[in-house]
Parts: sequence; C-alpha cells; structure tokens
Amino acid sequence: MGLLDFVYEYTPFIAEGVVVTLQISVISFLLGLALGIALLGLSLTSLRPLARMYIEPVRGTPLLVQLLLIYFGLPSIGIKLDAFTSSFLALGLNSAAYQAEIFRSALKSIPDVQILSAESLGFSGSQVYRYVILPQALRISIPSLVNEFVTVVKESSLASVIGIVELTRRGEYVAAYTYRALESYLVVAAIYFAVCYLISYLSRRIEEKIRIPGYT
Ligand code: ARG
Repeated sequence: MGLLDFVYEYTPFIAEGVVVTLQISVISFLLGLALGIALLGLSLTSLRPLARMYIEPVRGTPLLVQLLLIYFGLPSIGIKLDAFTSSFLALGLNSAAYQAEIFRSALKSIPDVQILSAESLGFSGSQVYRYVILPQALRISIPSLVNEFVTVVKESSLASVIGIVELTRRGEYVAAYTYRALESYLVVAAIYFAVCYLISYLSRRIEEKIRIPGYT
C-alpha cells in the first residue's frame, strides 16, 4: 500500500480520536482555569505560601508522573478513579498551576501609576481591581491562555498511557495492526498540528480585535 492509500485508509479511524482528545483537553483546561483563578486569589492574600506550595511541586515534576500517581497510586489509599477521570484531573490540576502563573504575571504587568491614579480619583481598593486592573489583566492573559490550551491539547496524549483511546492511542492501534509506525504516527502528528494550528490562528485573529493600544 502506498503512502496516499495508507493515509486514505486509516486517517478516518485515527482522526476520530480528536473527539476524545478535545473532550479531555476542554474539561482539563476549564478545571485548570477555575483552580488557577482560585490559586491566584489565594496568592493575593496572606495565604500566598500555600499557593506556592501547590504551584512549585506541580510545575517541578513531570505530568506523566502526576498522572501515574493519580491513576495507579491513589487506589492504595482507597481512591479509585477511572482512566478518563484520572486523565482530566491530572491535566487540570497541572494546568491550574500554569494558569495561576499566567494570571499573576498579567496582574503584575499593569503599571503602578494606573493604580495610584485611580486611587487619587477616589477609587476604593476593590474598585481599582474591578475597573482598572482586571479588565486589562484579562485581555493581557488571553494569548498565554490560548497557548496553555494548545499545551493541554498536546499533553493530553499522555492519557494514552493509561488506556484512553484518544488520538495518540488510535495511532498506536494502527501502527500495531499495519506494522507501519512511521505512517501511523505521521498521521497522528499531522492531526495534532492541524488542531493546534487552527486554535492559534483563530486566537491571533481575536487578539487583533481586542488589542489594547500601547501594549504589544
Ligand atoms: N511536559 C511537561 C511536563 O511533563 C509539561 C507540563 C504541562 N505544561 C503545561 N503548561 N500545562 O511537566
């Protein structure tokens, strides 16, 4: 079978994995968003060390090891999670640490002079946050958040290790069935690339629309 025939024959089966890949990615990203905002909130209070105690170990250990801990490790202390739940928990808990940092650096990028000006105009502390800092910080975070989503989509391939049949796992099936690993994984890679490229492309279009003058 030539390359084109191979692609024609097996791409539909592999591409169906996009559905599970995106399911895991979206759920994980949203979980990471919620927890990331919570972590940010925590790090703005006197409980900041607590937030750091979460963020640093999560960023300092491999996601694969975190996934294995959740799926194979937790049952030892009576917490049995199925593979799908383990996958989005691991990815979501992991992404939360990165998203918290994205928000933190966006907040820090708002010049102090704006806060002082708002205060001198009589804004209260919470009004400064609500009307001056947050609207800008959110827009500044968007490119990095999209980047993080693309990372989550790619990292979701790790779920294949614990038996989730998503994009990567489908490629493994085809490679095992046809003995043509090169072609199989090239198809897998091309599909990831198409998905990630599309996401980045769309987000660039959106960014152009909401750009704040004076910021790059
Ligand atoms: N491969 C890295 C790891 O295993 C990436 C972690 C996920 N990164 C992220 N931005 N969510 O640690």
